[in-house]
This record gives sequence, C-alpha cells and structure tokens, in this order.
Amino acid sequence: MCGIVGYIGGKRAVDFLLDGLTKLEYRGYDSAGIAANCGENIFIEKSVGRLDSLKEKLKNRLPAGTVGIGHTRWATHGRPSDLNAHPHTDCHGNFVVVHNGIIENYMPLKEELIARGHKFISETDTEVVAHLLEEVYTGDFVGAVREVLNKIEGSYSLVFMSKMHPDVLLCAKQENPLVVGLGKGENFIASDIPAIIAHTRDTFILNDGEIAIVKKDSVQILNRQGGLVDKKIFHVSWNAEAAEKGGYEHFMLKEINEQPKAVRDTMSKRIAKDGASIILDELNWDKNFLNSINKIYIVACGTAYHAGLVGKFYIEKLVRKLVEVDLASEYRYRDPIVDDKTLVIVISQSGETLDTLAALKESKRLGAKTLAITNVVGSSMAREAENVIHTWAGPEIAVASTKAYTTQLILMFMLALYMAQVAETISGDEIKRLISLLKKIPAQISETLSDVEPIKTFARQYGFNEDVFYIGRSLDYCVALEGALKLKEISYIHAEAYASGELKHGTLALIVEGVPVIALATQKSVYDKTLSNIKEVKARDAIVIGIAAANDIELEKYLDHVIFVPETDELLIPLLTVVPLQLLAYYAAITRGCDVDKPRNLAKSVTVE
Ligand code: AGP
Repeated sequence: MCGIVGYIGGKRAVDFLLDGLTKLEYRGYDSAGIAANCGENIFIEKSVGRLDSLKEKLKNRLPAGTVGIGHTRWATHGRPSDLNAHPHTDCHGNFVVVHNGIIENYMPLKEELIARGHKFISETDTEVVAHLLEEVYTGDFVGAVREVLNKIEGSYSLVFMSKMHPDVLLCAKQENPLVVGLGKGENFIASDIPAIIAHTRDTFILNDGEIAIVKKDSVQILNRQGGLVDKKIFHVSWNAEAAEKGGYEHFMLKEINEQPKAVRDTMSKRIAKDGASIILDELNWDKNFLNSINKIYIVACGTAYHAGLVGKFYIEKLVRKLVEVDLASEYRYRDPIVDDKTLVIVISQSGETLDTLAALKESKRLGAKTLAITNVVGSSMAREAENVIHTWAGPEIAVASTKAYTTQLILMFMLALYMAQVAETISGDEIKRLISLLKKIPAQISETLSDVEPIKTFARQYGFNEDVFYIGRSLDYCVALEGALKLKEISYIHAEAYASGELKHGTLALIVEGVPVIALATQKSVYDKTLSNIKEVKARDAIVIGIAAANDIELEKYLDHVIFVPETDELLIPLLTVVPLQLLAYYAAITRGCDVDKPRNLAKSVTVE
C-alpha cells in the first residue's frame, strides 16, 4: 500500500510532492522518491529509508519544475533500496512512472523486454510499465498508456510523466485508490485524500478502468473504452485526521475492512491460472526436502502465535507432518530439540518482534531449516530466515492486529496446500476443490463485514461486563484465543478463551448467571460435543452468543444470540469467524471509551524482551 502524489500547475512541484508524501507516510515508508519535469530533463531523486532520507538528499538542490510525481513505498516486489524506490523510468528516461499495487504478469513481460534489449535497473514489477511505454509509444501519450494497460494484469494505481509531454500527467486506476484534486490553475494527484486536503476539497475519485488526463487548467476522465466520462466532483468534508483513516473513525476499523483486499492481494499471483495448484516462487522445496523434515515448529507471539495454531491444523491435516506451535518467549529458553531435520516457521507481522527474532536465530544456530512469514519486506526476520514469504496486507497501523492475522491464515493455508502438492499427500481434485473455496474467501469476508449492527448491539449490551469467556473446539478454539486477545487488548475487559471440553475441569466454576460466553461452533467434526458444552453453560444461566456457519438453525435454539458466517470448508472458516470477534472487540472498546488504535501499555512492535 504505497503513497502516490502528483502536481501540475504554476508553482514548484516538489513543494507539494514532499508535503503530500509526508501526509501519506502511514501508507508505507521503506523508501521514497520524486521526479520533476524541468524542461530539458526530468530530475529524479530517490532514497531508501524514511522520507527524511529523501529530504536530506534534496537539501539545497530542490528542482524548479512545475510538473512532478512522487512516491513513498511499502515494498512487495524487490527489497527496500535506492534502486527499487519509485519513480521508475524506461531505458532513456523519457517516461517516468510511480505505482501502487501488484503487476501480476510482470515476470514474463520483463523477460520479453530484456530479450528485446531493454536494460532494467530495479527488481520491481513497476519498472516493466515504463519499458512497455517506451516500446509502444509513437507520439500519442494517451494511446500508448492505454496500450500498456491492456498488457498488464493485476491491481494498480499508476501516474505517468513524459519528457515529450511536459504539460500533462496521466493516471490509471485499477483496484488501488487514486484521486485528482481540482485546483485553480493547478491540479493535484494522490493515492489518498490526506495529501491534497490542504490544497483543495474538490476531487475526482477515479473508478477502476478510468484514466485521468491531468493538465494545469483541465482534467479529462476516460473510461476503459477511451470514451469521455462525465465525472461528478466529490467534495471532501473530512478533516485531515479522518482522511488518513479513509473516513473510518480508527485505523483498526479501516484495517478490519481492508481484509478482503489484503487477503486477495496475498493470494494474488500464488494461485495457478487453472486453479489447480499453489505457486510459491519463494520456495523451491521438493519431495526429498519435505521427506528430510521430521519435525516442524511454528514459533510466534500474540496474534501471530494464534495464526500459528491454525497453521498447525492446516499442515497436519493436509501434509500429515507433526507440527508443534510455541510461544517465542518460551521456545527460545527451552533448549528446544532442533536439528537439521527440523523446519522452523516464524510468523510475525512486523518481522521485528524480538522474542520471535531471537527464536529464529537460535533455530538457525541449532541447524534448522527456517522460513519467515512476515508483512514487512526487508524486516529483520525477512533478512535472517533462509526463506521468506510475505503477506501483502499493507501497513498495519493499529496496535491490535487484524488484517495481518487473516493474511497470515491465508498464507499458512496456501503453504500447507503447496506442501501437500509437493508431498502428494492429497489428490489433485482435493487441491482444486480447496483452491476454489479459497478464492471465495475475500467476498465472504466482505459479506461477513456487511452486517455489523447486531455486533454493535452486543457490544453495547455486554461491553460493561468485566469477564467474558470464549469457547470452542478444534479450529474454533484457535479463533476463540484470538477473539479473547482482541477484546482484552483494546477494551481492557478480562476475556479468557477455553477449549470448551476443558470447562468442566475447573473454569465452569466461573460460569454464573449473566456471564457472557462467546461460543464458536463451526467445526462439524466436533459439533455435538460443542453443542453439549453450550448446554453446560446455558444450564448455569450464562448469556451465550454463538458464532455459527450460515443456516445452522439447530444451534440457534440453544443460544441467546447468534452471528452467522458464510459456509465454507471447516479448515477455512477461521478466516470468517474471526471477523465478528474483531468487530465485537472494536465496538466494546468504543462503548468503554478506550483508545482503540493505541491501547494502554502496548506497542505495535515489541522489540524488547
Ligand atoms: C496483536 O493484536 C498484538 N498487537 C500482539 O499480540 C502482536 O500480535 C504480537 O506482538 C506479535 O507481533 P508481530 O506479529 O509483529 O511479531
């Protein structure tokens, strides 16, 4: 999720570019760059690191050009570096482009371009777009851009600048946000409203497939077929802070709602076109490698640990290999039994959690094969592990992890499927069936997000209880742990998750009249047992809110309230049942007036012991 800005008008472009990028730094910040059209040449400066590094490089050498584009990067393809920072150009510097999103077919396109003599200097997917433009350009800038867009696949917001056309900036939007700010004698471009709100509140919000032709005195919008669009002006009424959150009240709610796209992005490029296999280019594991592994550890902290518990189910079910999941802070001091036949998988959104990083280093010292699953390209764990696979959730700002968790689940599922493919532990038909269900998950998460009213009601009704219990069996228990953590860490309610079969071994003593119990009951394999546990707590007059698979009307009879999630394979249902639990925690925290995005005593990345 990168930040993009553009300016065309009568003032010095770089002033708006740097100001706009500063306001977009929350969208990604591992490198940044700007370009300004200075007549004879296009001035470009880029820098790895935060925006301040770029500003340092530009000190006393700000370009005078009045047309320019800029970018702050959240790396997906190509590690953070000066060369990988945007903007990117073609071989001769005639075309300059910045990009947010993923060009899914960039590798074959890049290979063809190299074969035709193009020289690439970065590892990014974006650079392909500049060279394609060079290939097809014959004088018509708009026509050439439209031709390039027909060649690329994936999600993108792109802004193009050309030495031959200094009076225009071209924008293209597909699945990633892009807005044009309408000024007087000047116009602004940005991936997000916060960058332009200080200059104008009148905007064109681009839709998928649209191209904007932005000059200093005019803006034209074309549709996918090249026809003119009669665009309505969207007047922004948000204040600057609300704009950063995309109009949501908190980053956490924004990130909960970003999960369909985050999951879709994390899946993109990793499912074969025929839907028959998983592609993990980051790994080159074969059957011999998997046969050489006799033990798998998954090691993590907090929410990532809860994702690891689900990952255990996936690998043991699909690959039939023993998996042990451990808290990093315990594992690293337990003198773990690890050797060169052990695969250690660490999971971490930040890639910087000290306990998990230390566990990774200890595992390497003991000779283990290591794999990091992380959301941050270039993070310590991404660099330390032998192999790394990235979730593509985009920056997660709220302390409470939500979209990172669901993208970790989807990646663990794809990893288990990939391993099952290699080890041939499940049939090709079963792989196809599971992949077809996997592809429906983003839409099903959207469906689950579409009806929050009942959850808001529960949060208001029960948000002042001091004790809440979450119960479930099998994968429902794993999700119950995550739901309890969410509630604890942002609403400060004492929430406990219990394997519902364990209740009778002690905790049932705490279940008294009026205690809210969130009961997850989606796992068909243990459904009857879960139902009897629900009856146990109902018999003690608890208030039971059930999370169930759609149309489970049998269960509804025993519950005070029920939240249904769409039906899918029981292995995949955790991706859906966690969503109402995230929302329940969020609205309970609101009810209690807590600081949702920055809860007391907590940090987003725990880089201390
Ligand atoms: C999750 O909501 C918490 N903020 C916390 O448990 C977090 O998951 C944990 O600190 C691990 O962080 P990581 O994924 O960046 O390693």
